[in-house]
Order: sequence, then C-alpha cells, then structure tokens
Amino acid sequence: MNTATMQPLNNQADITEQFYADVIKGLQSTPKHLSSKYFYDAVGDKLFQDLMNCDEYYPTNCELEIFTEQTAEICRAIMGNGDAFDLIELGAGDAMKSTFLLKYLLEQKADFSYLPIDISENVISYLNMTLPVSLPGLKVTGLNGDYFNMLEKAASLSKRRKVVLFLGSNVGNMPVSDAEDFCKQLRNHLSFGDMLLVGIDLKKNPKTILAAYNDKEGITKRFNLNLLDRINRELGADFDVTKFEHYPTYDPETGSCKSYLISLDDQQVKIRGKETICFAKDEYIYMEISQKYNVIQTNQMAAGAGFKPLNIFFDSKKWFIDAIWLAE
Ligand code: AVJ
Repeated sequence: MNTATMQPLNNQADITEQFYADVIKGLQSTPKHLSSKYFYDAVGDKLFQDLMNCDEYYPTNCELEIFTEQTAEICRAIMGNGDAFDLIELGAGDAMKSTFLLKYLLEQKADFSYLPIDISENVISYLNMTLPVSLPGLKVTGLNGDYFNMLEKAASLSKRRKVVLFLGSNVGNMPVSDAEDFCKQLRNHLSFGDMLLVGIDLKKNPKTILAAYNDKEGITKRFNLNLLDRINRELGADFDVTKFEHYPTYDPETGSCKSYLISLDDQQVKIRGKETICFAKDEYIYMEISQKYNVIQTNQMAAGAGFKPLNIFFDSKKWFIDAIWLAE
C-alpha cells in the first residue's frame, strides 16, 4: 500500500459515509429514526443559536445564570486543593459558558490548561485561534474528534488531574440507559480524584418543557426539518420537507421529551438515486430525546457510574443544575 497517499482517518469523505450509513440504517428500521447528533451542520448551528435566544427555550439561560452568579463557588470546587489540572470540555462549541470559568481561574492564577474537544473542526480551529487572544495567558489545546478518542489523547498528553465539563444538558440527548452507560464509560477514562462538571435539565411544569421544544416562531420545527434538508444536500436525497410535520411531546411520568417528524402523505424518498424509503401517511420518524431528571435520579446516575456527587449548583428557578461529581 502506498501510505504517502493515504487520507487521514477523520476526513470529510469518511464522515459523510458514516452519516450515510447511519441515515440508511435509521430509515430502514421499524420504527424509523434519525440521530439528533446530525442536527448540527452550519444551518443547524445557526438555528440552535436562534433557539437559545428565543423566549421559550430556557436551559441555556438557566445554565448561564449558574455560571455567572456562582463562578467563584464552582471554581473553588474544581480547583480542589490547588494542584495543577487539565480542564477538558466535551462538545465545547463556542465555549461561551466555560469562558466565565476560564476567566476566573486565570484571575485566581490557577495552574491549568484548557482542552476543548469537539467533533467540528471549525469549532476547534476557531477556539485555538481566538481564546489565547480573548483570554491572555490561557493555555489551550483544542482536540478535534469524538469524545472518548480525544479523552484518551488528552490523557496521553498529560498526567495531571482532569476536570471534565459536559454542559448544556447534552447528556439529555441520550435515553436514560445510554446516559448511564456513557457516564460509566466516562468514569473508565478518568482516574481516582478526577472530576466531572455536568449540566442537567430538571423535570418541571410539563407546559414549560413542552413550550421550550415547541416554540411559537417555529425554530425547533425548522431545526428538526433541517436534518431532512441536510440529507438532501449532503446525501443527494429528495425529501419534500413540506410533507413532514414536527410533533414534539413531553411525558411527565418518564421525563422524556421527544420529537418526531410525521409524514403527511404516502410518499417515497430516494437517497443517492439508489435507496428508496417508503413512508405511509401518518408514519413517524423519531428524531430526538431531551431527557429530564430530578436531583435524586442524577445522584443515582453518579453513584451507578462510580462518581460521588460533591456539589450541586441550581439556577434561581431550580430548573437546571450543574453538578460536580468526583471519580471514586
Ligand atoms: C443540545 C441538549 C442543548 O436537547 O435541549 C434544543 C438540543 N433540541 N431544542 C436540548 C435541542 C431541541 C438541546 N441540547
């Protein structure tokens, strides 16, 4: 094999093929489903930004309030006894919330490096470029790839204590048993004394939750439909997005907030001119889960994964928590 011409493993073609395989598998299943991790292309990123600014979508504002009002307390907890550490963020995005912590930690002269991990190459090159300018003195090493591969990379770069940030209730985008497995896997990538700072959206009035995923402007609807558009753009499909309707649900009993797209007609969709997917009228595609928890359940999830809950920071409405879990 001519290794000189080999492509890097994480190139765009591989990513597109993985996207294609996942889409075909999901749409050939019964019931049909797509993965919400694919919501975030350039258009989806923009729609999510819009969502965070709309009246009904509360989680971002709640977590921002926690990070701005309780910065010192959070930093004191993660600094522990003052030894050097690596602050690793899973799915850093624009690092807006973490910037409050980074700024405070720099002011306290804490000995730490910031290692944002993101699946988007754009995000990582942006953070590598902008953070050292906006936060002079900050040591940044952005890591582009999936969470666990990049956590292993981070561990190979430094043996220092690790504090992992997993914010924004991203853990909610997994069904409960997957979230439990994810926390166990995360614990296995950490050592005794490492920490996890995890943001989790809480159960609350069902109307408040449903409204956040059914905003009047229809941003959430466009956010869901954009995945069909993305499949059209990137995988050469011919979805008619006007023939699908967004259907959000929240079940207060289970805390599961789920969204579906409902086919408004009997219809066929072709992907790359070869795969044909048939939809019956009223058939659904399961798109996303945003699981809500109560505090007791989050403590149980911590314990089940080998963590001890150390602190819980609430927003003033008690709608959202950022919890600090210690690896035991
Ligand atoms: C990615 C977890 C922040 O589930 O609340 C927002 C994504 N989906 N509206 C969430 C989302 C629909 C969001 N997070």
